[in-house]
Amino acid sequence: MSGILAKLQARRDEAHLGGGQRRIDAQHAKGKLTARERLELLLDEGSFEEYGTYVTHRCTEFGMQSQQVSGDGVVTGWGTVNGRQVYVFSQDFTVFGGSLSETHAQKICKIMDKAMQNGAPVIGLNDSGGARIQEGVASLAGYAEVFKRNVRASGVVPQISVIMGPCAGGAVYSPAMTDFIFMVKDSSYMFVTGPDVVKTVTNEVITAEELGGAKTHTGKSSVADAAFENDVEAIAQVRRLLDFLPASARETPPSLPQLDDPDRVELSLDSLIPDNPNKPYDMKELIRKVADLGDFFEIQADFAANIITGFIRLEGSTVGVVANHPMVLAGCLDIDSSRKAARFVRFCDAFNVPILTFVDVPGFLPGSSQEYGGIIKHGAKLLFAYSQATVPMVTVITRKAYGGAYDVMASQHIGADVNYAWPTAEIAVMGAKGATEILYRSELGDLEKIAARTAEYEERFANPFVAAERGFIDEVIWPHSTRRRVARAFAALRNKEIETPFRKHDNIPL
Ligand code: HXC
Repeated sequence: MSGILAKLQARRDEAHLGGGQRRIDAQHAKGKLTARERLELLLDEGSFEEYGTYVTHRCTEFGMQSQQVSGDGVVTGWGTVNGRQVYVFSQDFTVFGGSLSETHAQKICKIMDKAMQNGAPVIGLNDSGGARIQEGVASLAGYAEVFKRNVRASGVVPQISVIMGPCAGGAVYSPAMTDFIFMVKDSSYMFVTGPDVVKTVTNEVITAEELGGAKTHTGKSSVADAAFENDVEAIAQVRRLLDFLPASARETPPSLPQLDDPDRVELSLDSLIPDNPNKPYDMKELIRKVADLGDFFEIQADFAANIITGFIRLEGSTVGVVANHPMVLAGCLDIDSSRKAARFVRFCDAFNVPILTFVDVPGFLPGSSQEYGGIIKHGAKLLFAYSQATVPMVTVITRKAYGGAYDVMASQHIGADVNYAWPTAEIAVMGAKGATEILYRSELGDLEKIAARTAEYEERFANPFVAAERGFIDEVIWPHSTRRRVARAFAALRNKEIETPFRKHDNIPL
C-alpha cells in the first residue's frame, strides 16, 4: 500500500511541476506567476478541487508521443472565493506555451459545463501561445467547443477572463465572449494577428504592446474592462469583483452585512452642482457618497469616460451604477459611451443587478464623425438595453436632461421604476441658449431681447418641475438625502416582477 501511495505522490509532484523548473524560473523571470500560484491567490486557502490532473494529449505528430506532461497545459477545477463556489481554468505557459490542444480544450469545456449545471461563475486565467501547432485542426475544433460554451453560458453564469500572457489569433474570441476581461500591464496582450503579420500584410510597424497591450485595450478598443499592475493585483481585483456578482442568473447578488447607515445624510451634496450650468463637477464624488462605505468598483474607467459604469452596494446589496460624467465631453452621449453603458446595463439585467442611473446629459454629441460612425445605431443600443431591462431601476437627474438623451437615460417612459430629480435639474428639449436661438431667430441681432428671452426660457423650463407636474418625475429630492431616498426606492422594488412577451430572442441593434 505505501508503495502505491508513494506512487500517487510522485505522480502529483510531477504534475505540479508542469513544464519543469527551468520553465517555471523563466515564467518568474518575466514577472509572471505560474498557473498554480495564480489559483492559490484566486481561491480561498485549501478550497481548490482539481479535475483532470493526469490528462495528457493524444497527439503523435512531430514526436509528441514522447512529450507528455500531466494536465496538458491547463489546471482546471473548482474552489471558493470568500466562501462562494467558482469554476476555474488556469493555462500553464510552462507546458507547450499553454497552447490549446484537443484534450486541453476538453478540460476547459468540462468545467464550463459543470459551472452551468451547478450555477457558479467561470474564471479563466489565460496565458497561452494559442492553438497547439502540432495538433492542427484538432486544436481549432477544441477552440470552437470552448466558444460554443462561452455563448451557452452567457447570461447563465458570470464569466470572467484574466489575460496574463499572450492571447492571439482566434483564441481572443473566447475571452471576448465573456462578461469581463481584465489584463495585466506589460505582460499580457491580445490581438487577432500579431505585429509580424501586420507588417507583412499592411506594412505597418507596431509593437505587440501598442497593438494589443493593456493600455490599448482598456483605453482605445474597450475590449478589456480594466488593467492591473501585476498578476497579484489582477487576481485580488477578480476576487473583489466576484463579491458583487450573483453566482448565476437564477440568483440575486450577494448581500453583505450592513455596515453603513442607509439614512446617512451628505450635506456636501447640496453644493455639488456649480452655479454656472456649464461648469463641470465630479460625478464620482456623488457615486461614492451614495455607496455603502464609499466602495465603488468601476468598469471600463479608462474608456469613454463621459459615462461612468460600475458596482456599488446599498444596504449591503449590489447595485449597478450608470452616470453621465460632466467632466468629460460635458457628459454627452456618443458612440463609445452608448456602447459602454449598453453592455453594462445588459449585464446587470441578465444577472438581476438593480440599476441606479445618475443623469447630467446635455444630449448626443453632434457631428459628422459621430453620424458616419453610426451614432444612431450605437445610441439605440443604450435605449434598447434600458428599455428591455426588467431589474429594479432608479434614476436621479442631478442637472441637465436634454432632448433624446433624457428619454434614453433611464427615463420613466422606458421603464425606470422611480425617477427623482434634484432641484438643480433642467429637463427640457435643449438648453436655454440653443432654444431661444431657434425660437427667436429674427431677434438674434438684439442682444438685450435675446438675453430676456433666454432668461424667460430658463425660468420656465430649466427646472425639474415641468416634468414633475406631468408625473414624469416622482419627487424632487434634497441632494443631501439622495442615499436614503435611493436605498428606500430599491428596497420597495425588491419583489418587482415584469412579464415579457414570448420571443426567441430580441434583435438589439448590433
Ligand atoms: C505549441 C507552443 C506554441 C504553440 C508556444 N509554444 N506557442 N507550442 N503550440 N502555439 C511553445 C514553444 O515551442 C516553447 O516551447 C514554449 O511554448 C514557450 O514559447 P517561447 O516562444 O519560447 O516563448 P516566448 O518567447 O515567451 O513567446 C511566446 C509566444 C510564441 C509569443 C506565444 O511562443 C509564439 O509566437 N508562439 C506561437 C503563437 C501562434 O502563432 N499561435 C497560433 C496562433 S493562431 P519550449 O519547449 O521551448 O519551452 C491560433 C488560432 C486559434 O491560436 C484559432 C481559434 C479559432
